[in-house]
Amino acid sequence: MDVTVIGTGYVGLVVGSCLAEGGNHVTCADIDEDKIARLNSGEVPIYEPGLDRLISHNLSAGRLRFTTDASEGIRTADAIFVAVGTPPGEDGSANLDFVRQAARTIGDHVRPGTVVIMKSTVPVGTSDIARAEIESRTDTPFYMCSNPEFLKEGDAVGDFMYPDRVVCGVDAPEAHDRMQELYEPFVRSGNPLIFMDIASAEMTKYAANAMLATRISFMNQVAELCERTGADVELVRRGIGSDKRIGQAFLYAGTGYGGSCFPKDVQALIQTGHEHDVDLTVLESVHHANDRQKTVLVRKIQERFGPDLTGMRFALWGLAFKPETDDMRAAPSLAIVAALLEAGATVSAHDPVAMDVAREFYLKDSVTYGDDEYDTLDGADAIIFVTEWLPYRRPDWGVVSQRMARKIIFDGRNMFDTERMRALGFEYYSIGRAQIRATA
Ligand SMILES: NC(=O)c1ccc[n+]([C@@H]2O[C@H](COP(=O)([O-])OP(=O)(O)OC[C@H]3O[C@@H](n4cnc5c(N)ncnc54)[C@H](O)[C@@H]3O)[C@@H](O)[C@H]2O)c1
Repeated sequence: MDVTVIGTGYVGLVVGSCLAEGGNHVTCADIDEDKIARLNSGEVPIYEPGLDRLISHNLSAGRLRFTTDASEGIRTADAIFVAVGTPPGEDGSANLDFVRQAARTIGDHVRPGTVVIMKSTVPVGTSDIARAEIESRTDTPFYMCSNPEFLKEGDAVGDFMYPDRVVCGVDAPEAHDRMQELYEPFVRSGNPLIFMDIASAEMTKYAANAMLATRISFMNQVAELCERTGADVELVRRGIGSDKRIGQAFLYAGTGYGGSCFPKDVQALIQTGHEHDVDLTVLESVHHANDRQKTVLVRKIQERFGPDLTGMRFALWGLAFKPETDDMRAAPSLAIVAALLEAGATVSAHDPVAMDVAREFYLKDSVTYGDDEYDTLDGADAIIFVTEWLPYRRPDWGVVSQRMARKIIFDGRNMFDTERMRALGFEYYSIGRAQIRATA
């Protein structure tokens, strides 16, 4: 099939290269000239495991190309994916400017019978808005489809190739058949391709993310209660997760959810509720709890050292919002660094892949960076673990002890056994478990 993908970010690049791998001819278009130039010179602008191999393989097979001129692909496409950003506006609602702009470009060049597929996460009713934008530019008949993306950054290629399910909201049998043809190679293991109306597909994406975010905020609040009552949230997690009705996933207490999806999607759904006079009080609490959770480690630090951290030095391991990505959008590390700097501390940070992004866009000169994680430790009063990258899970405790000024750890991901940390002589503060305090 001839496919065009508009927007080559985390979603568009994965969708485009996976569809090319599936034998389709794919044009990926973006208005960001620098990004397209880098892609055309063989550089992948984001860190996503497995993506570079997929892109180079399909570029050389002639099934994938990158351009700043979307019209080149739109004119011949059987299917056009819209995968542009939908960032939060001032009030938390999804900003649809990029979607509208992409729709107008489609309207200027679309050919009869094309299926326009909304991949971006958009509020209910947005596909109708996109349809109207396209129709304002053309009389050419086309079909609409809402096909929300459920991939996880860090495992995005696997999620696209072997999805738990694919959701397609369609408005016509022709769109149904085109989507079936496109996705059949990816659901051969029997996982469902679920067809529904467009509004239900749009809502499914938000409901899924809101449910996952709710589990995380719920466990974070249970963790706080565990700490106060002498229970251990890790044991409680195992205790409840083995109940089939509950399941194991997304029950980890930590420093709150971040990234480009959960925070903005929860807020956007709350806004949709307001617009329709429906109080989504559960989600308002989820959002509020998460905002508070992002600085849980800073509260622990200030309980330990006092509110004024002037002259103190912290090593922070993990900047990305989760392992195996360089995405720092709404990462808890940003709230933690901001609060530490505000209290007068200095921060030396490390991340296996997100340091370039941090330097360029988020933290610039406000923190120093270590060439490796141990470089951040010299003279540090404490280490703060924010992202559970694999290399951080078994540090060389001998080197750590030697290089730090004091043996104090704040672990936002519960990576280490509390009794082992006690035995190693660390003060060890984690989430929802016994706190190993200084012995007098
Ligand atoms: N990142 C994720 O893990 C994830 C997962 C599922 C769904 N989503 C949703 O998918 C959408 C895209 O997310 P992302 O993380 O890939 O965003 P992103 O910011 O990484 O990429 C969006 C890209 O779209 C481009 N763009 C904007 N307007 C354009 C236009 N008119 N024509 C061509 N290109 C244009 C931008 O330059 C950018 O490169 C969002 O709605 C997001 O909520 C994201």
